[in-house]
Order: sequence, then structure tokens, then C-alpha cells
Amino acid sequence: MRKKAERIKEIQDTVGYYGADILSSKKFRESDKNIQHGKASVMDHSISVTCLCVRLAKFTHLNYDYFTLVRGALLHDYFNYDWHHHDGRLHGYRHASTALKNAADDFSINPREANMIARHMFPLNIRPPRYREAVILCIADKVCAVKETFSKPLYHKAVKELKK
Ligand SMILES: [Fe+2]
Ligand SMILES: [Fe+2]
Repeated sequence: MRKKAERIKEIQDTVGYYGADILSSKKFRESDKNIQHGKASVMDHSISVTCLCVRLAKFTHLNYDYFTLVRGALLHDYFNYDWHHHDGRLHGYRHASTALKNAADDFSINPREANMIARHMFPLNIRPPRYREAVILCIADKVCAVKETFSKPLYHKAVKELKK
């Protein structure tokens, strides 16, 4: 069985490889100023969720499009505002469509990535995810949200490296 550190490095490399342009973009990096859950910024959260998506995808051994998985996950909360001072309770219902619009404005988004971003708030947003990449994002997002509320983000060391 492979060591945990090797597994995490492979996840980090996958996220860094497919998401390089997003990770280095000015607007994505600005999301580090906005808190998402607990002490985690939106940037921390987005990278942590992406790492977990890759981990879950590798764990299942199913056929995933890692390019799409990484990019859709990195951009799933690309709403670009501090939600605590913006639309309050309505944020949960509205931000997926805002994130999709912003992502489509700033990056080239394929239909699967669009579905991942648009449907990641299922079941709060009632339309379910359509593709397996979108299903895995939906799960990873909730797991990471709980973890961040009470502790450091999942894969916090890889998150720190990917923010450099
Ligand atoms: Fe979200
Ligand atoms: Fe999220």
C-alpha cells in the first residue's frame, strides 16, 4: 500500500497540472481575502475541495476526466465577493449561477465544468448534478464545508503548496 504522503503529492500534482492557470490568476487569488467557512478562505476551500475530488475519483477507479474535474472544482465557488456582507441567506441559493457566469467570463468552460459549477449546491438548488464529475464535487464540497467549520481544511498542506 502506498504511503499517505505519496498519495497526497500525486493529488497535489494533478491539481497543479490541470489548474495552473486558474491557480495563478489574479481574480482566483483574490478569493483568498474572503472567508468561506471557519478560518478557511474561499481560495483555501476551493483548492481543498478540488484535492478531495481528485482523491475520491482515484479511490473509485472509475473513468474521470481529470482536466474537467480539477477546473470545475476550482471554479465552483468563483462568485468573487464576501458572502457574509453580500446576499446573506440567499447566498446559498444564488452563488452557483454567479460563479458559473464569472467562470465563463474569465475562463474557457466546457459543458461538464458548467454543470459541476451550476449544480454543486444540490439539494439546496433542486436540479441534480448530471455528470460523475459533478456528483463527486457535490459530495466533496459538503465534506470540506463541515471539516472547515470545525478545523483546518482537508489537505491543508497541499492547499498551502498550491497557493504559492
Ligand atoms: Fe458553493
Ligand atoms: Fe464550495
